[in-house]
Amino acid sequence: MTKKAKASSLNIGSFAAMKAAGEKISMITAYDYAMGKCAVQAGIDLILIGDSLGMVVLGYDNTLQVSIEDMIHHSAAVRRGAPEAFIIIDMPFMSYHLSSIQAKENAARLLIGGGANAVKLEGGSASRVEAIKAIVDCEIPVCAHLGLTPQSVYKMGGYKVQGKSVADYEIIMAEALAVEAAGAFMLVLEGIPELLGRDISQSVKIPTIGIGAGRYTDGQVLVINDLLGQTDLRPKFVKTYSELNSEIIRALGEYNAEIKAGTFPAEEHVYYPITNIKDFEK
Ligand code: KIV
Repeated sequence: MTKKAKASSLNIGSFAAMKAAGEKISMITAYDYAMGKCAVQAGIDLILIGDSLGMVVLGYDNTLQVSIEDMIHHSAAVRRGAPEAFIIIDMPFMSYHLSSIQAKENAARLLIGGGANAVKLEGGSASRVEAIKAIVDCEIPVCAHLGLTPQSVYKMGGYKVQGKSVADYEIIMAEALAVEAAGAFMLVLEGIPELLGRDISQSVKIPTIGIGAGRYTDGQVLVINDLLGQTDLRPKFVKTYSELNSEIIRALGEYNAEIKAGTFPAEEHVYYPITNIKDFEK
């Protein structure tokens, strides 16, 4: 890290200043106490409690089934591990689509229950822009999310790169300008060509955080399980920094084998081993 000492000192102004200074912003998802702690110790700038939770932790087929209760439960755990980190919590599918009142109520519930500093919601249509305005009007910072928006998986016909045609490029660019004008303080760009990621990042003043959006966004985010080698699918944009699942399986295999062989627990793992029973009897 450069000027700042730790994540605890960061706020929405810090991220704007980082963009202005050309300093890249690091974001990672986390879903529990232990990973919240690790993210802070690694010096990551901000933590996202993504609704990817549904797929990588809860085993759902997609993010649509994730509930507000799921999000609050996991966000609160991350907060306990990362008491001073800047945390963004995802608003689940259909928790902000029905009305401005619904969006405001659920944003407040997620923010307070999950101990987060900001909420994130997907999309840039007119009604999403209204939801952003309504939530910001309640003094709750909003991070927008455009491009490949996983809650639209059925509408998109799968998890496909967005913004490839000139017409789609223009729609996503217009949405980026609209969410900025609505008051979003940050914008996640997912699954778009590098050119569009670069052009949006140059066109908006708010920081952009890319995931599969190329090299020119103001920061990057990855799903922690992807980065740690804990997922089977390896999309092109993911860099796997560790093969943690292989290591977990190796360790569990060794544990299993030692139990079966009677070599675990060994004497050093035992309270008052029978070999020293006389000491205990004294
Ligand atoms: O849910 C999530 O993890 C996300 C990231 C992919 C940006 O929204």
